[in-house]
Amino acid sequence: MAEHPAYPVGLRLAGRRVVVLGGGQVAQRRLPALIAAGADIHLVSPQATPSVEAMADAGEIAWTRRPYEDGDLADAWYALIATSDQGANTAASAEAERHRVWCVRSDDADAATAWTPATGHSEGVTVAVLTTDARGRDPRHTAAIRDAVVEGLRDGTLVAPHHRTRTPGVALVGGGPGDPDLITVRGRRLLAEADVVIADRLGPRDLLAELPPHVEVIDAAKIPYGRYMAQEAINNALIEHAKQGKSVVRLKGGDPFVFGRGMEEAQALAEEGIACTVVPGISSSISVPGAAGIPVTHRGVAHEFTVVSGHVAPDDERSLVDWPSLARLTGTLVILMGVDKIGRIAETLVAHGKPADTPVALVQEGTTAAQRRVDATLATVAETVREQDVKPPAVIVVGEVVNVGVQSSPKTSE
Ligand SMILES: C[S@@+](CC[C@H](N)C(=O)[O-])C[C@H]1O[C@@H](n2cnc3c(N)ncnc32)[C@H](O)[C@@H]1O
Repeated sequence: MAEHPAYPVGLRLAGRRVVVLGGGQVAQRRLPALIAAGADIHLVSPQATPSVEAMADAGEIAWTRRPYEDGDLADAWYALIATSDQGANTAASAEAERHRVWCVRSDDADAATAWTPATGHSEGVTVAVLTTDARGRDPRHTAAIRDAVVEGLRDGTLVAPHHRTRTPGVALVGGGPGDPDLITVRGRRLLAEADVVIADRLGPRDLLAELPPHVEVIDAAKIPYGRYMAQEAINNALIEHAKQGKSVVRLKGGDPFVFGRGMEEAQALAEEGIACTVVPGISSSISVPGAAGIPVTHRGVAHEFTVVSGHVAPDDERSLVDWPSLARLTGTLVILMGVDKIGRIAETLVAHGKPADTPVALVQEGTTAAQRRVDATLATVAETVREQDVKPPAVIVVGEVVNVGVQSSPKTSE
């Protein structure tokens, strides 16, 4: 038997009797997949690990608390033999052979009539890896191949386009703050499957270089918008490409719903009856301070953090931010799009009671190679921004958390 390769097959075990002998570590590892397959599982074992016991308590498996006895494998479709008693394992194997029950042996792959592959899952596909023959068995190698394939599918480095079940319509993908490693696994996979990508200036632009040549990459800032507003022109571009049956990814910086106008795009697509998938992203509001060594909350320092847009000055009638209330908060204030207006913002916060020596940090181009942090206080921030030539994009953090953090966190200015 050892000369021949195993024949790979997927067993459909739902409602079918599966017998597991031995309730130790092997059973603990294998049972979840058998439960997921819907098998009618009967465990025979005097003892079981706490996890296996919990599966029995939850009614996921039936447990007979005694050692193996001849006849236990009657009516089984499949058996997992994994007791610590080799004599019992051999006897059970012989019974399996008599009853023609496929059986896995944890202690002797050669004596088994079935092998368990190293398995992993990725978006509707099970990857199962088997060695060709018993002599070449190398479980670590098969597990490594499984991991490489599953990881590759998840992060998009292994491209296997869907032909029958491609994600239709538009995916609004949050690309994270800029570092290409900080996009989600789902976002990266959708990007790898796209026909058209409409990208913002912010976000992981390095990922665009990895896209195959047939993918059309459109810079959202360069879409001609004639009599339309820029956002309307972007919505129209999304709609147009989706209506051509293309798989469209709208790649946005951070999270699509944090000052990202993601819902406006989702609404425009809904009005046209175009399917829209939203993939959350890591928002710069938390990750950029974090990348510069600033936690937005810290025990005993800040029990809240508030994220606000600073794109209009506090005295601008279009502002929806209640700056006087924010001045009274004791927690952390995180300001996005605030570099140009930080002078007016700082004055307003101080005028409404925030101490002028409250620490402020500006983190420019966070998580990218160009990241830099500039520190100031509310009293000095306007001048510091000018002197240090701080430019957008930057996240501004106001509060005592600025002075928390590890000693080695980068600082370019006091
Ligand atoms: C239009 S908002 C989009 C925010 C995004 N949706 C998010 O969740 O991070 C753009 C602002 O986010 C901030 N920002 C985004 N990425 C940044 C980065 N890598 N470094 C510093 N600030 C960033 C800046 O304040 C920038 O002006």
